[in-house]
Amino acid sequence: MTPRSPNPRRVFVLGATGTIGRATVQALVRRGHDVVCFVRPRAGVGGRLAPDDSARLLAGATVRYGDVRDPASLEGDGFRGERFDALVSCLASRTGAPRDAWAIDHRAHVVALDAAKAAGVTQMVLLSAICVQKPLLAFQHAKLAFESELIASGLVYSIVRPTAFFKSLSGQVERVRQGRPFLVFGDGTLTACKPIGDDDLADYLADCLDDANLQGRVLPIGGPGDAITPRQQGEHLFALLERPPRFKQVPVALLDTIVGVLGTVGRVVPPLAAKAELARIGRYYATESMLVVDPATGRYDADATPSTGGTTLFDHYAALVAGTAVVERGDHAVF
Ligand SMILES: NC(=O)c1ccc[n+]([C@@H]2O[C@H](COP(=O)([O-])OP(=O)(O)OC[C@H]3O[C@@H](n4cnc5c(N)ncnc54)[C@H](OP(=O)(O)O)[C@@H]3O)[C@@H](O)[C@H]2O)c1
Repeated sequence: MTPRSPNPRRVFVLGATGTIGRATVQALVRRGHDVVCFVRPRAGVGGRLAPDDSARLLAGATVRYGDVRDPASLEGDGFRGERFDALVSCLASRTGAPRDAWAIDHRAHVVALDAAKAAGVTQMVLLSAICVQKPLLAFQHAKLAFESELIASGLVYSIVRPTAFFKSLSGQVERVRQGRPFLVFGDGTLTACKPIGDDDLADYLADCLDDANLQGRVLPIGGPGDAITPRQQGEHLFALLERPPRFKQVPVALLDTIVGVLGTVGRVVPPLAAKAELARIGRYYATESMLVVDPATGRYDADATPSTGGTTLFDHYAALVAGTAVVERGDHAVF
């Protein structure tokens, strides 16, 4: 059972309707905090959640509705002139497209930080991503820009940079179950990660409010166990389904061609520029590990990547195969 916080506080939460946001709201409520979530009137993937749906989803918390990009809405509909102690944000662009990333991962956070300070907030916990340590993509630069502003803000901060989430590694369960091969880039060993479960990450984020060792720090974090490659993920999935492993190798050069073509055409057809960035995101995850980079060697280092929690990706695959969990697919899916 989760222990109650020794110091329950008023916590304002952004990004509460996302995968990690939902789990984090539950973790905060379990600890006895007074949680207020600020969400859009139509939330969730594709705006599927009406206000009542969000309120049900975030049971135990107060839900307020408005536009996080608008300072007047944040103040009037969100903080409402009340005092708060902490800001917790799991807010992030759902697409990672450059304009949206700068509007949400950076600008909305800057505005929210100002409004939070005016409401008396002295502490912020920010969900970021481990990939910002090697920034090549617009959304990574947007996240880093806000990280810097938070560090300079004078607030007590915890910047949590997790490795891969289960949902990002579960997109192929259904296709394999249907008898199709598991797709890998290269031979499936180009990258590795230490997948982290939603609830384990949520507990870690909630702990940041109380644990002084997790404050004033940038915190890369993975889940339990060894780092695993895409090939190992596929092998485990076939074993669970009691089928012989069958892989289809996709050359990274194919992604390079797609990135190149969309990048060139995107210079004259603006909508394709956004698609080119999504292809660059796909290429990034096909070739970069979600592990801490050793500054001395520039190599990814599984041993240097801290772990937390108890649920493994393979536990999650078992639950998916047994039908006791479902894959949540967002806008970031590569396969
Ligand atoms: N996927 C991975 O493997 C992985 C790994 C490491 C780190 N991360 C990072 O973790 C973070 C959160 O991930 P997640 O999977 O929990 O995200 P998610 O499910 O996509 O949720 C994003 C949240 O931000 C909100 N949001 C987005 N655009 C908004 C807007 N214009 N106005 C108001 N709210 C908006 C969403 O609200 P709505 O419900 O209204 O859309 C939702 O609550 C991201 O920064 C991601 O980069 C991801």
